[in-house]
Amino acid sequence: MPNNDKELAAQLNNRFRDTDTQEVVSWVVQTWGREAALSSSLSWEDQAVTAMMCHSPREKVRVFTLDTGRLFPECYDLIERTRFTFGIDLEVFFPDYRAVQEMVAEHGVNLFFESVELRHRCCNVRKVEPLKRALQGTKVWITGLRRDQSVTRKDMQLFEFDEADGLIKFNPLIQWTEQQVIAYVKDNGIPYNPLHDKGFPSIGCQCCTRAIKEGEDIRSGRWWWENPDHRECGLHSR
Ligand code: ADX
Ligand code: SF4
Repeated sequence: MPNNDKELAAQLNNRFRDTDTQEVVSWVVQTWGREAALSSSLSWEDQAVTAMMCHSPREKVRVFTLDTGRLFPECYDLIERTRFTFGIDLEVFFPDYRAVQEMVAEHGVNLFFESVELRHRCCNVRKVEPLKRALQGTKVWITGLRRDQSVTRKDMQLFEFDEADGLIKFNPLIQWTEQQVIAYVKDNGIPYNPLHDKGFPSIGCQCCTRAIKEGEDIRSGRWWWENPDHRECGLHSR
């Protein structure tokens, strides 16, 4: 066995480079059980990964979502449909109310439009800090990241050592295209967000996401008022 997680991530990339995605997901769930957890935003990708994880016994499957308090109503409906469809206990994590109150008292409820710094502060309070809590005791953090989602994601690997959190990050769909993921979800009857059919390919908080026109970049509706190079919420680029 390698003596650190950085080496382990490199070994796993070599071992699973050409392996079918379902097989790798099942291997991770079998190997780590509930010490491996998917952070799900209920996106196309996260719904696909949830379904792949649910090929394993449910007691081994851990999925959580971060409720920022600013989500679309459709996301809440999808949390319930996902719980029901897969028979999983989808855990919901909330921001620290004192941090939210302090931030809102200082800068108002819509501070994210004022500057990139204030937008990052909001994402930190509402997403990053709850993520850290959700990942406590977790050895493998599973995500729905794909390389072609953004310039900021083009160098990501199947397995990575996440220094900020001191754990292995597993991105099973890293090489998939958007079309492949959508086809997988639809062909397998997996529940998905109805907003996807209304011009929202990428969905975050309601106030920071808008519909896009055909041909526009899939993430151009996220924090649309900012430069594309900054458009990350800090979950994956700390
Ligand atoms: S973001 O950084 O722009 O918000 P994006 O929506 O592309 O992220 O999602 C990428 C991955 O981040 C998802 O597959 C998921 O693993 C994680 N993620 C994003 N938002 C959430 C959320 N609200 N709850 C849990 N995980 C999330
Ligand atoms: Fe705040 Fe917008 Fe980030 Fe949601 S996406 S946490 S509302 S800045």
